[in-house]
Amino acid sequence: MEWWQDAVVYQTYLRSFADGDGDGVGDLPGLTARLPYLHSLGVDAIWLNPCYPSPQRDHGYDISDYLDIEPAYGSLMHFDELVAAAHRMGIRVLMDMVANHCSIEHDWFRAAVAAGPGSPERARFHFADGRGVEGELPPNNWQSVFGGPAWTRISEQNGTPGQWYLHSFDSGQPDFNWRNEEVTGYFDEVLRFWYDRGVDGFRIDVAHGMFKAESLADWPGADDGTGGHNFDMWDQPEVHGVYRRWRSIADGYTPKKYYVGEVWVPNFERLATYLVDDELHQAFSFDLLVQPWDASAFRAAIERGTDQARATGRMPAWTLSNHDVHRAVTRYGQQQDLSAPLPHDMLASARRTGPVDVTLGIRRARAAVMLQLALPGSKYLYQGEELGLPEVFDLPDAARQDPIWLRSGGAQLGRDGCRVPLPWTSQGENLGFSTAGTSGRAWLPQPDWFAGFTVASQESDPDSTLSLYRRLIARRREFFPANAPLEFLELPAPDTFAFRRGAGICVINFGTALVQIPREWKIRQAMSSDQNVEGDAHIVPSNSAAWILTERVPPHPSASGADGVWQDSPSPQLQQTAG
Ligand code: BGC
Repeated sequence: MEWWQDAVVYQTYLRSFADGDGDGVGDLPGLTARLPYLHSLGVDAIWLNPCYPSPQRDHGYDISDYLDIEPAYGSLMHFDELVAAAHRMGIRVLMDMVANHCSIEHDWFRAAVAAGPGSPERARFHFADGRGVEGELPPNNWQSVFGGPAWTRISEQNGTPGQWYLHSFDSGQPDFNWRNEEVTGYFDEVLRFWYDRGVDGFRIDVAHGMFKAESLADWPGADDGTGGHNFDMWDQPEVHGVYRRWRSIADGYTPKKYYVGEVWVPNFERLATYLVDDELHQAFSFDLLVQPWDASAFRAAIERGTDQARATGRMPAWTLSNHDVHRAVTRYGQQQDLSAPLPHDMLASARRTGPVDVTLGIRRARAAVMLQLALPGSKYLYQGEELGLPEVFDLPDAARQDPIWLRSGGAQLGRDGCRVPLPWTSQGENLGFSTAGTSGRAWLPQPDWFAGFTVASQESDPDSTLSLYRRLIARRREFFPANAPLEFLELPAPDTFAFRRGAGICVINFGTALVQIPREWKIRQAMSSDQNVEGDAHIVPSNSAAWILTERVPPHPSASGADGVWQDSPSPQLQQTAG
């Protein structure tokens, strides 16, 4: 089995992870110095959000140079040191490849603006004349994902209003024209540059992007203002040619390199077209992330994920959180309207509001990660989730930086609240985020209550969320062998479900009542997400999950009713602990 099929990958939002030079912004030396923390957490790989030079209009997703490191984060030398140190600890390093768009400060875009209409420089992007008498209207009605028109007009060199350029996201992020061969060739070089430095793979940003319908015609369908429904902007057939090309580059290395795509498409049939042998290795499954706290919704999402795995031969890359959505603790601590239609994209799922019951949210987030880590497939964890951090809603308006906040004139909170720098210690500069002698305040202010969630305090507390994560990651394969298939077990309790993989069983209780595990399960070992569980491992309290190793395996779900045949467990662990 390939390493990525069952890996735990830790998403590092570099800017907010650890600040090694005291300027209030996280950086590569800060991350390298904290690698032992990630090693002790037990992760197999890290994914770095973009760390290339960028004016930071979208915090690195607007790249001005694909072949260097953002000076605020360090240098290529620091990057090489990070990769070497991570590899020494057996941790793989994934970068973020943003190829749908670059920054308006990229040399190619500056050259395009300077060169004028019809030039080869403009042909690398989507420039078009405006509509209306004076070209004063955008070329079509497409909307940016971040709100507002997906086109911005430039001034030509002589100062007159000129052509418009397409940006699926912020106006600082012009979309490349992937039908231009120079663009294709450029990204081949970019991939090789980082692979030659030892990078193990890439997370591909908006992997369903890149190509737009060639006509650039008006989108006739309803548009919700996020651009998300406009299929002429996304998921065009030509994009598969790019992944075939990128895959052959990845396969040319020993060991082979890896791709996981951020692919937002309307159904699994579309997703499967990316997950073929000569394209992407994996795609994120956001299906769990967008579910409300509800047993049948979670179960259905897992069923869809495992169906997808059967159909494609690739395990999903499960995730419950990332830098684009409100933190899990907050989502699970809010009232959720189960009848509301599901948000169709993750940016929408970051827009939920309402009072938050943090204690409840933490209980549920602990249970949810226990479920996630028991699933077949890789598990992506977003930094700070292991501390049980809630979303920061109380950021001063003036501190907010997300283009979603700025473009919506403050109507949408955006994503700053999940990007606040991590609290490491209750004392120290920026709660230990920055080195001593720091002159800079953390780039997003940490609220005072962050001091209650520090790494240091949680390390010394066996019941903390951090300690739970460490235990779970350390023991997950003992309970759930990498290649063991998932089978649901029937439990006579509402608002709950259970599944087994190998000798391990995961039970998760979404409801308010205690769930009683059948006595016949003869529990050998159990772990709980609930720090208060003592004594009876046959009880799964409300809003908690349990991992169980049984002496004997419950009947296969297809066995008929209560007369199913119990089998002695084949698990080596059980044999060791038996008797
Ligand atoms: C990233 C976002 C980013 C956007 C534009 C998304 O997929 O996860 O953080 O703003 O792409 O690059």
